[in-house]
Amino acid sequence: MPEESQQLRPEGLEDVAALESGAIVHGLRFPRGFEWGAATSAYQVEGGLDATDWSEWERQPRGGCVEAAGDAVDHYHRFGEDIALLADLGLTAYRFSIEWSRVQPRDGEMDEGALDHYEAMVEACHAAGLSACVALHHFTNPLWVSRDGGWENPRTVDLFTSFCTAVARRLGPKLDRAITINEPNMPPLLGYLLGRFPPGKRDPQARERVTRHFLRAHEQVRDVLSDHTDAPVGMALAMVDWQLVDGGEEHLQQLRGPREDVFLQVARDDDYIGVNTYTRHRVGRHGFMDVEEGVELTHMGYEFWPDALEATVRRAAGETRRPVVVTECGIGTKDDARRIVFIAATVRGIHNCLAAGVDVRGYHYWSALDNFEWNHGYAPQFGIVAVDRTTQQRRVKPSGRFLGRIARDAGLP
Ligand code: FCB
Repeated sequence: MPEESQQLRPEGLEDVAALESGAIVHGLRFPRGFEWGAATSAYQVEGGLDATDWSEWERQPRGGCVEAAGDAVDHYHRFGEDIALLADLGLTAYRFSIEWSRVQPRDGEMDEGALDHYEAMVEACHAAGLSACVALHHFTNPLWVSRDGGWENPRTVDLFTSFCTAVARRLGPKLDRAITINEPNMPPLLGYLLGRFPPGKRDPQARERVTRHFLRAHEQVRDVLSDHTDAPVGMALAMVDWQLVDGGEEHLQQLRGPREDVFLQVARDDDYIGVNTYTRHRVGRHGFMDVEEGVELTHMGYEFWPDALEATVRRAAGETRRPVVVTECGIGTKDDARRIVFIAATVRGIHNCLAAGVDVRGYHYWSALDNFEWNHGYAPQFGIVAVDRTTQQRRVKPSGRFLGRIARDAGLP
């Protein structure tokens, strides 16, 4: 084993592959100011949210949710501790989201206290030496919005814009990076075509309508934010590494077009493109192909395919000609040694992109904390920090120290 990998030896880990991961990333240099972060979203970590379409959905049998978010990991009250912990690890950024239903609990109502809360989060980041990357929408909608037609109703575009205007006025000058909408391609697909997210529809036309509304909302909110902040503004797009297998060309176009390409096109006018990537999809003459035999699967059933990130980042950069930020990349697994391997391989992929001249500005691991993984509940563990949900105690995993070490070492002369 080379001597350098000893230096990156994640404490308490004997796994050889994980140790070798240290060697994979050791010595890689990243540009100064490169963002090394970890991400969460309000609904998945805060707790105590019950006036959203998701809280309603998780109580419905047809929602297929294994459990409710409930108190989550109480990040609402513990954000200070959590942010300090990420800073102690060596990270330089924290990505989180603002919960619309807290800021506007009812139609026409604005809760200034909720804005105080999110302002305090941004300030806590700065006090700890982290930059704040803030998303204004991450899957959930206030009940008063969803009950009035949600994203099928064109009025929602303006309602969301006015919520964002209030946030922009208050927080705009303090933001370091803004995400208008997290994965605007996923609710149309999962909520309106596949029936897995609220409102559980399976209607291709509704999917198209909702896609149009999300795109319009993104453009409006981008303009509003840009009036109030110098921070770069973009979207975080869910992308997979699409791999074409003999004869799948037509299927690939049909699948990828509405899912990624229409969004990438709009992102050409943004300050940057955020890329969220977890795995690859192979597409053949009959459409989606089964997972390949012999390929390891993660808790979510995704293929363990860390090379996917390099491919999506290159494609996002090529299609948009914008700087790229990895806004999410992670693995759900109980085996933290595999997480270390995954992090090392994806970081290496980003380094390959930089070496090839692709302008990549940051890497946010999903997730900072083990949290509520939507329909799957609390079983998939994506965090670099574990949480005991009976005591709400945090425990940094070796992968957290590993990522922190990369962040501290990277870019040093
Ligand atoms: C992404 C979501 C995020 C989390 C990860 C695993 O699609 O943005 O909330 O659920 O997947």
